[in-house]
Amino acid sequence: MNQKFELTPGYTINRIINGCWQLSEGHSLTCKLDFDDVMRAFHGLVERGFTTFDCADIYTGAEEFIGEFVKQLKNGSSISPDDIQIHTKYVPDLDILQDVDFNYTEKIIDRSLRRLNRDTLDLVQFHWWDYDVPGCVETAGHLCRLQEKGKIRNIGVTNFDTKHLAELVDAGIPVVSIQTQYSVFDRRPEKALLPYCKEKHIPLLCYGTLSGGLLAERWIGAASANPETRSQVKYLQVLEDSMGWEGYQELLLILQRIAKHHDASIAHVASKYILSQSGVGAAIIGIRNSKHVDSNTRIFDFDLDAKEMEMIRNHLAKHNMLEGEPFELERTVGSKYRNIMKMNLNE
Ligand SMILES: NC(=O)c1ccc[n+]([C@@H]2O[C@H](COP(=O)([O-])OP(=O)(O)OC[C@H]3O[C@@H](n4cnc5c(N)ncnc54)[C@H](OP(=O)(O)O)[C@@H]3O)[C@@H](O)[C@H]2O)c1
Repeated sequence: MNQKFELTPGYTINRIINGCWQLSEGHSLTCKLDFDDVMRAFHGLVERGFTTFDCADIYTGAEEFIGEFVKQLKNGSSISPDDIQIHTKYVPDLDILQDVDFNYTEKIIDRSLRRLNRDTLDLVQFHWWDYDVPGCVETAGHLCRLQEKGKIRNIGVTNFDTKHLAELVDAGIPVVSIQTQYSVFDRRPEKALLPYCKEKHIPLLCYGTLSGGLLAERWIGAASANPETRSQVKYLQVLEDSMGWEGYQELLLILQRIAKHHDASIAHVASKYILSQSGVGAAIIGIRNSKHVDSNTRIFDFDLDAKEMEMIRNHLAKHNMLEGEPFELERTVGSKYRNIMKMNLNE
């Protein structure tokens, strides 16, 4: 049975969101994507109730691809474009942060509307690369003006730490959600962000839940992994600094034992563990083919009992939590986390 939840009054989304970074140019490192197969996956997902999509202005080609999907829905599908929810992001380039003004913000939002074939953007998640560059709160204010103009339905944020999220909230920006990395490898949100968001009723929309596919049976017993995607490049770094390869292999066996009990898979259990955390609204799972479409419906068919949750928690407690707040390492100049990111993709 599919699970949905009301993110804001009158606006309901699925608890599993279809992630579309995987469709962006250069994300797959070892193969070329079959976009006909991805389109089949999209139709299959919405038919099964997975109607919520996540993309970004900086995921090269992804907004256009979803726009094409919307066009197909308009032309005679049993599912209407109004039955799906599309979340995008507003990520001004690092190099122009100091020059961002209202006209620039509106230009990018108009481009997303055009690419996505929509009259209104359901959710725009705001990202700011460098807190030392002034203008973060003012730029979020631009999104409020565009909300008043009817171009944006809801405003969210992504990759904010607790302090800077609080600054937006205190300034009256109506933040309805925060997208952040939260997984069995990366529990940084538990330190301060999650408690703050619970208090303010701002649900977490979590990425990294499957750590780019590293949380799957195929890796049991492997001695190492050659990254197949940019997601895996990133999550291998996270793994290295959290539980290490040995801890990861032990975790896979624990998750497999639990999964077998529920006739499910490691990926289902890893997703369910994050969805079971209080304050988590949804998990975002990346899509780059149709092979997992049927499988992911299983996530809603079972619950983890207290003993199973404890088994996972006990294992995680034996290992390091990554340093700092969510996205802090990624913001630190010279860090390996920052060095793999592309911060000027909008122009
Ligand atoms: N705000 C941000 O900064 C940010 C950053 C990263 C991601 N995101 C969002 O989060 C989404 C997810 O990205 P992610 O990098 O975190 O990747 P992810 O969701 O952890 O991993 C996606 C991969 O998991 C595998 N997978 C999917 N379903 C599976 C299943 N049932 N069983 C086994 N494997 C399965 C697939 O690999 P195969 O196709 O190879 O089988 C897929 O490519 C992105 O698309 C994006 O929307 C946002």
